[in-house]
Amino acid sequence: MIKKILIVLGALLAVLIIGGGIFYTNIYHSTEARIQKKYVVVPQELTLTSDSAELAYGDRLLTAKGCRDCHGMDLGGQVFIDDPALAFLVGRNLTKGKGGLPQDYAVSDWVLALKHGIRRDGKPLLFMPSHEYALLSAQDMSAIISYASSLPPVDRTFPEQKVGPMGRVLTAFDKLPLLPAEMIDHTRSLVKEVKAEVSVAFGQYLSSACQGCHRANMKGGDPVAPGFPNVADISATGNVGRWTEEQFINTLRTGKTPEGKILKPNEMPWNMTAAYTDTELKALFVYLNSI
Ligand code: HEC
Ligand code: HEC
Repeated sequence: MIKKILIVLGALLAVLIIGGGIFYTNIYHSTEARIQKKYVVVPQELTLTSDSAELAYGDRLLTAKGCRDCHGMDLGGQVFIDDPALAFLVGRNLTKGKGGLPQDYAVSDWVLALKHGIRRDGKPLLFMPSHEYALLSAQDMSAIISYASSLPPVDRTFPEQKVGPMGRVLTAFDKLPLLPAEMIDHTRSLVKEVKAEVSVAFGQYLSSACQGCHRANMKGGDPVAPGFPNVADISATGNVGRWTEEQFINTLRTGKTPEGKILKPNEMPWNMTAAYTDTELKALFVYLNSI
């Protein structure tokens, strides 16, 4: 009897191991094909600026749009996910120092990265939230690139990026935004500019920076990656609908909610929203309350 049970268990285990192996091999090949895919896109032309007010605005946007959260305060790059199961990802060195962008990295290469999520060799960038930046106005994108391409060189090199087994399984089931290039309408042109005023339209424009986590409808949901908390509903049906404008602004500048919750800047990037102007935060408040 015991012998029979052991044989059955052994057979089950073998089926599980072989099945799991086939399952993972399939996932490995399908995700690898997506990672190696070459996109053919002609980037829209963009004029840079040397106006000092526009450059200062670009500097602020690099914080306000979260670039510094992944690429480091000096934009010289930093590791932002280091988990053997999930991935090893580096917000790469965006300066022209050692380990940084090539000396001949052109405006069109910047546009490929920001508006299309594509590297200059046509392959998709990993985890770089270009699906959000694709919605920037031409004016904002130009200010960002003008400032970023004038940065002093920082010498900083990193090991190669890697996507682990868990990262591949989550990507296969669309539970990890590993390949933003797949989510972008590559034929869309940039809007020229969006008027900065306390309006639903401006709030909606700014909310592209929240979409990646809070979803397009701002109602949140599952964590963005394993180990992160559930994403809060920030539409009128969530806490935001009960807060005053002042409480909303305070939360996004201090990371402390009226209910006393402390938001961790690596989970809810309030370092980024702390750099927003009053007008920007008020517009977001108006927009979120309209949903
Ligand atoms: C969530 C983290 C994250 C944020 C936020 C982010 N990036 Fe990235 N970025 C990355 C990663 C990771 C890569 C490298 C991707 C790769 O090589 O596959 C990258 C690559 C790039 C590249 C491409 C360089 C190349 O190889 O051609 C540029 C340019 C860039 N980022 C600019 C920006 C700018 C500007 C912002 C803000 C508007 C920004 N990034 C925000 C993670 C991020
Ligand atoms: C990288 C992912 C990410 C991005 C981008 C992001 N958030 Fe969040 N946010 C979260 C998570 C996760 C929580 C819940 C944190 C927790 O429960 O500790 C949260 C919580 C909040 C809260 C608190 C809600 C409550 O009920 O306490 C507010 C307000 C908020 N986010 C606003 C924003 C706004 C506005 C933007 C865009 C400008 C934004 N977030 C962008 C991940 C993000």
